[in-house]
Amino acid sequence: MPKDLLVRNVSDELVSLLESNLGPADSMNTLLKTVISKGAEAISSQESQDQSHADFTFIDLFAGIGGFHLGMRANGGKCVYSSEWDKYAATTYGTWFKGHKIDTRDIRTIDIKREIPKHDVLLAGFPCQPFSIAGVSKKNSMGRTHGFEDEKQGNLFFAIAEIAEEKRPPVMILENVKNLKSHDKGNTWQVIQDILDKSGYQVFHKVIDARHWVPQHRERIFIVCLRRGSFLKSEIAQFEFSETPRTAPKLKSILHASPPAKKYMLTDGLWAYLQAYAAKHKAKGNGFGYQLVGPNDVTRTISARYYKDGSEILIDQPEWINPRRLTPAEAAKLMGFNSKFSKSLGFPGGFPQVVSDTQAYKQFGNSVSPLVVEWVGKDVKKILDLRNQRLGRVYSSNSK
Ligand SMILES: C[S@@+](CC[C@H](N)C(=O)[O-])C[C@H]1O[C@@H](n2cnc3c(N)ncnc32)[C@H](O)[C@@H]1O
Repeated sequence: MPKDLLVRNVSDELVSLLESNLGPADSMNTLLKTVISKGAEAISSQESQDQSHADFTFIDLFAGIGGFHLGMRANGGKCVYSSEWDKYAATTYGTWFKGHKIDTRDIRTIDIKREIPKHDVLLAGFPCQPFSIAGVSKKNSMGRTHGFEDEKQGNLFFAIAEIAEEKRPPVMILENVKNLKSHDKGNTWQVIQDILDKSGYQVFHKVIDARHWVPQHRERIFIVCLRRGSFLKSEIAQFEFSETPRTAPKLKSILHASPPAKKYMLTDGLWAYLQAYAAKHKAKGNGFGYQLVGPNDVTRTISARYYKDGSEILIDQPEWINPRRLTPAEAAKLMGFNSKFSKSLGFPGGFPQVVSDTQAYKQFGNSVSPLVVEWVGKDVKKILDLRNQRLGRVYSSNSK
């Protein structure tokens, strides 16, 4: 940035935005142009995010960077509350969903009755943890005070269960890793199903691989819960997960057209280390190691650890000896955070990156693909529409 420009009281958000958009040698002219174009982008984003009319309302728990929010917004939903305690994820969320306040407190500490608004759909991609048998049996006998408190404080699924009991949303969509069903020898899944059932929900689930939408294998369990007190039996009976599309995009659809900055190339040292590590494990009969992929491949699951060495997805580059890692912009597209969604929020040039590369990789590795959410959301919306028709509701976010 030019050194002879003194501007006071510039917000941290603007400073990091400028730093991620400007090089050290950029001129005053470039700086001013960037500020003006970012300002115009913010205004257009605010305008395109106006949702004075919506088909249903939702809350976004464990919101991360808003994969659920984007997918359900695309189905006509309006977000009325978001919770995420990680300050970097909340910074990204706040920038992308302009003017949307995110609650950064621990979800287990909030006053549900007063602080969470009424909503139609509860969304949550919650962390998977084992349940202690003691805590669970107390929950089942509805002794939801005293001794149960420890478990309630510990297990994040209970935060969802408590909100469901208090707010009774007609629908919940939960997402988790595929092995939720085998986690803790099946105990975790059993407890979750029991609690949802006792809270009055009919539970449907399906493991869906995001590879039908993006060039990445990412199997996740989607759990759709329909409240028996909100829907007729005949309405619930109509719910089903649609067949996944037959499309299977290739990696080339998300790669930059020209090689990215040098910092994304693996150094000789790291590349030698990863090869030696893989060889050692191969000799022992283990499959651990890097994955080298080309334009016609589909990658492994990108994880929150991708920032460490990128070994799970390395891009082979015929013109270079060493492979490279994905850039954060490519990681975004690999998760389905594509230009359709960025444009819908008023960012025609793609989602702005307002955190470091490390944080950005963590955020994408932790996120849910908005394209898969949009797909599942379409099936849910059909059932919500049946209910709204029966109730003669003309829906608008202002009617809540
Ligand atoms: C698996 S990620 C969900 C990501 C999200 N679905 C997305 O698309 O980005 C779980 C998120 O829950 C947040 N989290 C974990 N414990 C929390 C708590 N007690 N209160 C609020 N947020 C919490 C984490 O910071 C993390 O971002």
